[in-house]
Amino acid sequence: MKDGAIGVFDSGIGGLTVMKELLRLLPGESFVYFGDTARVPYGNKSAETVLKFSREAIYFLMQKGVKLVVVACNTASAEALPALEKEMTIPVVGVIEPGIRAAVTATKKARVGVIGTLGTIRSGAYQNGIKQLAPDVEVFARACPLFVPLAEEGWVDGEVAGLVATRYLSEYRQEGIDTLVLGCTHYPLLHGVIGRVMGNDVTLVDSAVETAKRVAEVLSEKQLHREEEEGNFSVYLSDISPTFKQVGERFLGREIPVIHLRNG
Ligand code: DGL
Repeated sequence: MKDGAIGVFDSGIGGLTVMKELLRLLPGESFVYFGDTARVPYGNKSAETVLKFSREAIYFLMQKGVKLVVVACNTASAEALPALEKEMTIPVVGVIEPGIRAAVTATKKARVGVIGTLGTIRSGAYQNGIKQLAPDVEVFARACPLFVPLAEEGWVDGEVAGLVATRYLSEYRQEGIDTLVLGCTHYPLLHGVIGRVMGNDVTLVDSAVETAKRVAEVLSEKQLHREEEEGNFSVYLSDISPTFKQVGERFLGREIPVIHLRNG
């Protein structure tokens, strides 16, 4: 089991931001990434559809013999993970819980903002999770759907990104939050512009980084660590678009060697 790969699932390309942190923190592990590129985005679909697609994706990874599954997609973690966890026979790590723990630790004023897709925010997963862990923390949640296409287009730092970020986030300045959870796979790419709009006194919680740390913890708790110097990394997609490789390498920060098409 130790030598098995870690399965990483996302609705599409965005989970490569989580993949980047996993590769950085766990270079000795092997990974199989599955991006449901034929059906992305999940963020504006119904919870039932997100659950159905996520179940298919996770079972695909389990057929590959993975030892642990990371649900890198915030929308799938929010809307599908609670139900799917009960069906799984291997450990599953989502992105919501690590983000919640980091936010609760970071806030000094007990005022936390959360941004994500429409589905993630509608599910209340972050809001309820924070309240459960720290009932005195006030949570301000907002969907920022336009950040996803901006990140994919590579418009992460210019005038347009600045205007969109200001429009979405300026109310947060009045609400006096001191911590903001980047609750979507794509948002770490907009870290710079979001940080500038929010100001230096607001801590940005990157759920990709927090999730990689949680995966490392689970591997040692369950004694599933692979003790090799280097692992393999393969990518499966449900559709291979002409731009995936180029955009994906920007998200991942390194080359994607081979891309396989998932059949069926
Ligand atoms: N991966 C999704 C998330 O983190 C963003 C893209 C989508 O809507 O599918 O919520």
